[in-house]
Parts: sequence; C-alpha cells; structure tokens
Amino acid sequence: LGLVGSEICIRDRGLDGAHVLVRLDLNVPLGDGRVKDDTRVQAALPTVQWLLDAGARVALCSHLGKAKGSPDPAFSLAPVGAVLAEALGTSVPFATDCLDGDRHQRLEDAPVLLLENLRFHAGEKANDPAFGAALAAGFTHYVNDAFGTAHRAHASVTDVANRYGAGHKAAGRLMGREVAALRRAVENPAQPFVAVVGGAKVSTKTEPLRALLSRVRRLIIGGGMANTFLKAKGLQIGRSLVEDDMLETATAVMERAASKGIELLLPTDVVVAEAIQDAQDVQVVPVDAVPADRLIVDMGPDSRRRAAEALRDAQTVFWNGPMGVFEQPEFAAGTLAVAEAMAACDGFTVVGGGESVLAVKQAGVDTAIDHVSTGGGASLKFITGEPLPAIVALEV
Ligand code: 3PG
Repeated sequence: LGLVGSEICIRDRGLDGAHVLVRLDLNVPLGDGRVKDDTRVQAALPTVQWLLDAGARVALCSHLGKAKGSPDPAFSLAPVGAVLAEALGTSVPFATDCLDGDRHQRLEDAPVLLLENLRFHAGEKANDPAFGAALAAGFTHYVNDAFGTAHRAHASVTDVANRYGAGHKAAGRLMGREVAALRRAVENPAQPFVAVVGGAKVSTKTEPLRALLSRVRRLIIGGGMANTFLKAKGLQIGRSLVEDDMLETATAVMERAASKGIELLLPTDVVVAEAIQDAQDVQVVPVDAVPADRLIVDMGPDSRRRAAEALRDAQTVFWNGPMGVFEQPEFAAGTLAVAEAMAACDGFTVVGGGESVLAVKQAGVDTAIDHVSTGGGASLKFITGEPLPAIVALEV
C-alpha cells in the first residue's frame, strides 16, 4: 500500500504568501442550482482553513459530475462557491475557467479563489501533461485533499502532483483521516471483521470482494448484486436485475468463502414488486419462492434480522452499497436496518459510498459510526489493498 505518511502530510511552515493549488473533491449533488448535500464541502474545510491560517493563498479546484470535456452550466461549481463562502466566512471569488490567465493576480487580491470544474477540459480525465502543466503554472505548492477522487489517475490528481517535489506537495487533513481509518480495516482488522457489500453490480465489486475474503470472518451480501448470487445458487429470481456474465464469479466467491470458513450471508427472504417505481403491490417471500413476474427490491425481515445479528459482535465493520432500491422509501428497510445495526455495534465501523452514507444520515445514526467516508469508489478501491493513484503521486 502506498499510504499517507507523516512525511507527506502538511507540515510546511513556509507557506506565508505562497500560492497553493488545492485539489478537493467538491463533487456534490446539485438540485435547482443549489448544493443538496454539503458533506464534502464541510469535510474540505479544515485543510483550507489550515492553509489560510498559515498565510497561504489558495486556489481550490475540483471536478463536478460527469462533464464531458467542455463547459456545461449544469455542472458548474459556482453554487459550491456560495456554500464555501458561507462556511469560511469570507468571499470566495470564482474563476469561470480553471486555467484563467489572471488566477495569480486574483490570489494577490484575495486569499481564496475557486476554479471552475476541471472536467470542462478534456485534459483532466485524460491525465494530459499539457493540461496538468497549465493548471499547475505559477503555484509553488500543491495539496491534495480529494480523497473521493483518489482512485482516479486524472491530471489534477497525478500529473500535477508529479510536478512537485518534497516539501512542496502534501496530503490534506481529510485525506489523512480517511487513510488512517481505512487502514484499520485493511491492516490487521480486529476480529470478527464483518463486511457488508451491496449495490447493483457484482462486476464493479469483484476485486473488493476478493480482497475482503482474505480478511473478513463474515460477509453480508445484499442489494441487486445479491440476485446474481441467488441465481448462481440455482434459485429463480423472476425479473430481478441480474448479471448473467457474473454467475461464475459469484460461484467462485461462495466457494472461496466456504473453503475459508467465512460465513456468507445472502438474503433468506426478499421484498418483491411489479416494478421499481411501483410500491403498490408489494410482498415478502422466501428466496426460493420469488414469482416469475416480480422483481426483488429489498431484503425481507428475516434477512434484516440475520444481518443485524451478524453485526452484533463485530469488532470491525466495512459497509459499501445499499441493500435494496433505497431511493424508494418503501424499499429502504434493509439498508436502514444495516445502518442501525452498525450504529449499535461496539466495534470500529466504516461506511463508504453515496447511498450507504445517505442511509446512515437518514437513519440519524451517522454520529454513531466511527468513520463515514467521503469516498465511495475510493474507499472500495482502498480496501482491495491496491495503491490509490493520488497517494502514490503524493509520495516522493
Ligand atoms: C465520486 O463521487 O465518487 C468521486 O467524486 C469521483 O467521481 P467520478 O466517479 O465521476 O470519477
């Protein structure tokens, strides 16, 4: 693992007046031109404030959404600027292009500048050195606090970091906190270690599942991906979401778990509906009695009870991915039950991934979880034990 060590954490005291480029993950949900969830903005504040207190002039940069390499007003970071300004208690001028020629002049005029969405330039995702050079131009220091983007080898994450040497680049405080928490789940986790993995697809979680199988005592699988496991076991799953090309992978996971004595919990009963949007005609059925014309939308009550029981004595818990069609309140019971069981657990608990994080917040139990990660894909990648590009690039 390439881990954040003290040598790459912020400790440079020579920042007075320095122009620092700060990569944040301000990829927040927007609605009606406003920030709908400011968790990532709040999480970025300690580093920004620390830099300002040290006398630095900071240009804050981030991506937002799936912008396609050219300006798109739907993905503008401007609404985030308003939230930052309020949180920092200072005005936050905005550069409508992250490469604006007057960025350094504006930093002389005011200590904070928010740069427009990096993904308005194709060079960001392409990790293009020309874009990286233009972005970094004139900045003497670089700080990366974008843990949520740490698994992306994009220009602002890797190319730019590689342009700076020791003492001129650093991981931010959020990055440090995230890495420290996730390390506890990766390196010698206290046992029993229980992982809860959900979400739609097995295909996006193959590597994390493989890695978890070498560490956990119990593995709870839920959400759409559980259907693929149920089908691989020979069960009929009606019209449920399934990945037929992942049946062999699911079988391999179950065999590996069995050979290692890992308890693998799949749903024993499920909530079925006629359609994802249709909460009218809902039934709870055992997994071996799913009607051919229905689809599975959530775990049933027996599965919820078994999941809670499996979490009760856990000393380490890692959770990523919802247990059902969580965005539909009628199908959120499984996901909320896991959130509550985690909160009740005395062990070290970590949650990552947008919907799981939303679930612990909706259940009102987020403060009872030890670490609520700001990175979904990044935390999942971290637990595979593979080095994250952002962290590798910060090492010198
Ligand atoms: C995230 O929300 O997971 C990160 O901001 C990365 O975004 P991306 O999946 O669009 O690269």
